[in-house]
Amino acid sequence: MSTRQPLTRALHFEPLSARWIPDMLEIEREAYADPWSENMFFRELDNGASHFQLAFHDGILIGYAGFWMVLDEAHVTKVTIASDYRGLGLGAVLFAATLDFAAELGAAWVRLEVRESNTPARRLYARFGFTEVRVRKGYYARTNEDGIEMARELETPPSTEDEQGLD
Ligand SMILES: CC(C)(COP(=O)(O)OP(=O)(O)OC[C@H]1O[C@@H](n2cnc3c(N)ncnc32)[C@H](O)[C@@H]1OP(=O)(O)O)[C@@H](O)C(=O)NCCC(=O)NCCS
Repeated sequence: MSTRQPLTRALHFEPLSARWIPDMLEIEREAYADPWSENMFFRELDNGASHFQLAFHDGILIGYAGFWMVLDEAHVTKVTIASDYRGLGLGAVLFAATLDFAAELGAAWVRLEVRESNTPARRLYARFGFTEVRVRKGYYARTNEDGIEMARELETPPSTEDEQGLD
């Protein structure tokens, strides 16, 4: 939309809080065939293993990402950019910040599942050095789609300054 131009890649991050869950649900329902429910987001607030960040651009909630930290492994549970803001490099900025956060918390490995048909997400993860570990047949029960498990080690700093979206 012309009113958003030029769009910088700088995002502001805040931890998940209850007041944003209604807005997240709107983004969520548009983004996924099997969206998380309100209760699922609220449960993240009580889950000590969950680390969930909201991403804002010019004060507008444009995405969110989360992972569960289990021992030395971060399991990514969400990476979502609102539909109007996709294809602009913001998913890469959000994911870079997520990996940095996981590294700060001591993650040695990051793991996730992605739909076989989700080309943008698979490209995003591959760009960040994730490799495909295995196919999980019918992982997405509602659509009976296979999940691709992807992982990468965090032995090196995960993102460059450019990927951080600095102006
Ligand atoms: C996956 C998602 C977070 C990517 O966010 P984004 O802001 O659009 O991503 P970026 O603009 O940073 O682009 C990331 C990569 O996807 C590619 N991409 C973006 N849109 C694409 C499209 N429609 N088709 C194919 N590739 C696409 C980009 O080219 C880029 O790959 P590259 O680095 O090899 O060029 C976003 O599409 C989304 O929220 N999708 C719905 C929710 C979802 O599926 N989340 C992932 C769950 S595992």
